[in-house]
Amino acid sequence: MPIQQIKDEYDMLEEIGSGGMATVHKAMQKSLKRPVAIKELKKSYRSDEQIVKRFERESIVAASLQHENIVHIYDYWKRPHFCIVMEYVDGANLADVIAKAGALPPDVAVMIAIQACSALEYAHMRGLIHRDIKPSNIMIKRNGEVKLMDFGIAHTRDLEALTLPGTLIGTPAYMSPEQIVGQSLDIRSDIFSFGIVLYELFTGMKPFFDEETRAVSAKIVNDPFISPRSINSSIPRSVQRVIKKCLRKKPAKRFGSMLEIEQKLGKQLAGRTTKAASLLRISEYLVSLNVIEPLPEQETLVITAKPSRRSSRFKQALASGALLLAFAGGGAYYYHVKPMPPAPDGAIPVSAVPVSSPLPATQPATTPASARTTDAVASAQTATPASLHKASSEKKSETSRAGKKKKTTVKKKKRKITAS
Ligand SMILES: Nc1ncnc2c1ncn2[C@@H]1O[C@H](COP(=O)(O)OP(=O)(O)O)[C@@H](O)[C@H]1O
Ligand SMILES: [Mg+2]
Repeated sequence: MPIQQIKDEYDMLEEIGSGGMATVHKAMQKSLKRPVAIKELKKSYRSDEQIVKRFERESIVAASLQHENIVHIYDYWKRPHFCIVMEYVDGANLADVIAKAGALPPDVAVMIAIQACSALEYAHMRGLIHRDIKPSNIMIKRNGEVKLMDFGIAHTRDLEALTLPGTLIGTPAYMSPEQIVGQSLDIRSDIFSFGIVLYELFTGMKPFFDEETRAVSAKIVNDPFISPRSINSSIPRSVQRVIKKCLRKKPAKRFGSMLEIEQKLGKQLAGRTTKAASLLRISEYLVSLNVIEPLPEQETLVITAKPSRRSSRFKQALASGALLLAFAGGGAYYYHVKPMPPAPDGAIPVSAVPVSSPLPATQPATTPASARTTDAVASAQTATPASLHKASSEKKSETSRAGKKKKTTVKKKKRKITAS
């Protein structure tokens, strides 16, 4: 794309990050009025044929993936810029979250991990190994949605690897033992790297750490690690078992798929949260950490009468009544459900979901617990800020109705509509 065309189409805004090979900028796509992230290959690499090919492949591979937990690719520009244009993720990357929080509350960690599992399972099902799973490649949007990115060194079974013999690619602290020693890889290499991410999420520490990269690699290949529960005793035993199994040195001893991990972690929530509640819990937690700004409040309609006309008062009463009935109906839909069965051993206590979470336990009790959890989280991936806040405001209205039965106007300064 010629430079003038780029200037016509995009307003370049601030730099938002920089990694080993590229710099990421926020930009505004003028025609569609949407923010985008533009990842530009660093100048020093542009003449390196190998790296350029790999970068180009990142965009091709990533563009072929359509999953709500994977960053969408919009465009790729070749020479002279070498830029990938992608969805702008308004949120925080997991590396920054862990750096700020240390260990995350177990329920939040599970809710984040399950979404990442789903993205990786999807990629694996398409014969793709990510090969660079690490917290900085996992972003969390302000609405709590997780986005996996950077399939830059991803490798498909069908494509010839672009790595030269003996060349290591990946991020040393997150590499699997087989990646370090240069053996051929399969999805279980990603599972090991994911185990390191899980370890960090739940303990705030890396399982294999040293100042020296070589020493880290040697530890990954040879050394045991401290049990997660010795660092953080609030980690459920079953989560510890999952982490340990991901981190087995021999691939054959690890899980065979991300789906298995997703199901095991899903049991932790034991159907006691819903899509909206999970996302809201993550979102509120990140706001409380000060790593993201809160989402804007949803507008609330205020229906007022025109004071001069009698009939309009009657219409207003009708409209208010209809509004109340609609709210009551919605409330009943959300809240008239059987209570959830007690959580299995080691499940994360429901109190971990804050009082402000809108939907404490609303799934039908007839569905098996594991299926409910997986479904809940799968559908969680499609929830929007609007739906989250809709749920939130419904909860608020419900509470206020219980407390003050005679209150008939839902008010919040915002917009006024006159029923006439
Ligand atoms: N699509 C995106 N939306 C928002 N921020 C992004 C996006 N892609 C990358 N970033 C930010 O830019 C940083 C640098 O990304 P990258 O060059 O891939 O390096 P690394 O993954 O090693 O951190 C990321 O850590 C992330 O915070
Ligand atoms: Mg990255």
